[in-house]
Amino acid sequence: MMRFALAAAVICLAAPALCADAARGKEVFQACAACHGDKGGDLGPSLAGVIGRKAGSREDFRYSGPMMRAGFTWDETRLKAFIRDPQEAVRGTRMPFGGLDSAADIDDLAAYIGALK
Ligand code: HEC
Repeated sequence: MMRFALAAAVICLAAPALCADAARGKEVFQACAACHGDKGGDLGPSLAGVIGRKAGSREDFRYSGPMMRAGFTWDETRLKAFIRDPQEAVRGTRMPFGGLDSAADIDDLAAYIGALK
């Protein structure tokens, strides 16, 4: 048991993403859910399938110019940077959200969003 806990801790240090908790991330997502629902017509674009999608590319949402010109494809690193500080990650985005501080919250939230289909 001891040995297992130690091994798990080593894995978490080596690859934090493997230890992220999507179930907890669902709770953190409440901070986003008011704007990011899964239907069109919300205040923000749907985040289903956002990992692997080009930034600002959903047809059913009117993005800001800076988001459409961001020119990258969302991966976990980009997503986490954006959650930490939206304005820093995509300067000029009109997403009205100040960002999260807790690395654990960010990891768990990214795991949850990554699993949204
Ligand atoms: C008050 C509303 C609001 C909240 C709260 C909010 N967002 Fe957003 N989000 C937006 C808007 C509006 C955009 C479009 C920004 C633009 O076009 O510049 C956006 C865009 C995004 C995008 C880019 C999507 C794409 O299709 O390229 C991601 C990723 C994102 N938000 C994640 C989050 C996460 C994660 C949270 C919670 C921590 C969150 N947002 C909280 C309104 C919000």
